[in-house]
Amino acid sequence: MTLATINRRHVLTGTAALLAAASLPRTLSGAQRASREFRLVAAPARLSLVGAQHPATEVWCYDGRVPGPEIRVKQGERLRVLVENRLPDVTTIHWHGIRLPNAMDGVPHLTQEPIASGGQFTYEFECPDAGTYWYHPHQSSSEQIGRGLSGCLIVEERDAPRVDRDVTWLLSDWRLLKNASISGDFGNMHDVSHGGRIGNVVTVNGAVREAFEVRAGERVRLRLINAANARIFALEFEGHAPKIIALDGQPVEPHGPPQGRIVLGPAMRADLVIDMTGTPGQVFRVVDRFYGSLNYRLLNLVYSQEPPLRTEISGEPLRLPANRLAEPDLKSAERHRIVFGGGMMGQMSAAIMDGKRTDIRTLFQNGLAWALNGIAARGHLHAPILTLALNRSYVIELINDTAWHHPMHLHGHFFRVVGRNGQPTRFKEWQDTVLLAPRESAEIALVADNPGDWMFHCHILEHQQGGMMGVIRVA
Ligand code: C2O
Ligand code: CU
Repeated sequence: MTLATINRRHVLTGTAALLAAASLPRTLSGAQRASREFRLVAAPARLSLVGAQHPATEVWCYDGRVPGPEIRVKQGERLRVLVENRLPDVTTIHWHGIRLPNAMDGVPHLTQEPIASGGQFTYEFECPDAGTYWYHPHQSSSEQIGRGLSGCLIVEERDAPRVDRDVTWLLSDWRLLKNASISGDFGNMHDVSHGGRIGNVVTVNGAVREAFEVRAGERVRLRLINAANARIFALEFEGHAPKIIALDGQPVEPHGPPQGRIVLGPAMRADLVIDMTGTPGQVFRVVDRFYGSLNYRLLNLVYSQEPPLRTEISGEPLRLPANRLAEPDLKSAERHRIVFGGGMMGQMSAAIMDGKRTDIRTLFQNGLAWALNGIAARGHLHAPILTLALNRSYVIELINDTAWHHPMHLHGHFFRVVGRNGQPTRFKEWQDTVLLAPRESAEIALVADNPGDWMFHCHILEHQQGGMMGVIRVA
């Protein structure tokens, strides 16, 4: 067969395929593309988190594992997930960071009724942005996430930078008792009014790990997901020079982390590229240095004895293709301000609870310690703290008038972090969760292009429960 005949045949099949497509019923084309189907069962299970020398831990999880099964789709694919609730409590799933229709956002009483114990719910949506995401309940979040309900959701780029391995570490923080069972003191007022429920055992993909094995010369894309209730991480990869290529799933100009530490508040993600520049047999520590004197070794990078995969650092580019996000117009943007108040060592003496001005003692008795713009939200009260016009640009100034860190998450959108403490940021990074240090301020910019009622809250889950949440309406 000659080359010409092959080409001709290709052309013919192509045309035939086109004709066939044109005669298909309309529902099978375009928007009705087939979905990737998954099924998740939320139920209690017994798992070994801290190793064989300790008893197993009774957890709540998806499909009997922690983290839940990894959901991996290609950018633009539709995802359909049937959730079965076999927990002794109602639940929902929130697809953290995915820009999806409001009805699929998984917020109980706001976007759906919670899934009853023994009930089911089907989520279905498209994944418009490539990147690293995660899923978790939005019902009694502190307890349900704290007992183990979380999983990774990876949306693959159509055209990703070449790496030797693509690895995900979902970081969890557990508060365990001596017998390795989960401490049941969720939502206690000490945690609510201080730094949240910080645990005593950190796991990587559901287990305390001694080592992560690597090979000399390889290039690893490492997706970090902070699924902890409250713990902030500041990871240092000793002896290595990781580059951050994405934050909260969104590509960012590849750069080394400031002070060599990758700082991740709860719910935040970072995609790193790490060249394994050590030699066979070497061991390096990965250390978490966030809480000063409480530094600990997360695990060791252990080089196998295999010969190096390559001897020079791979010259492949690191830049990820940008997702299609609407660019906020800073000049015409309408400006708003959200002030955070409350917490221990704060100045808040009163806030609005259930529509009434309430003194701090009464707030406390009702489990509240925080406020956004003077409103301490509780239960299912979801009067919007801001109403934004569809497709308009906004700059929102976030002012942390408290003595604590807060990772603030907006549902349904990404925003650019354009300023911190009055200074422009270097990378104008897109994020869905921005970490504010005590007394810090930040300016975020976005186009309000997804209609609906969206949660805006602190992802330290005891803070959220203690009043640090509100609804931003896009109408
Ligand atoms: Cu990851 Cu409102 O949550
Ligand atoms: Cu907070």
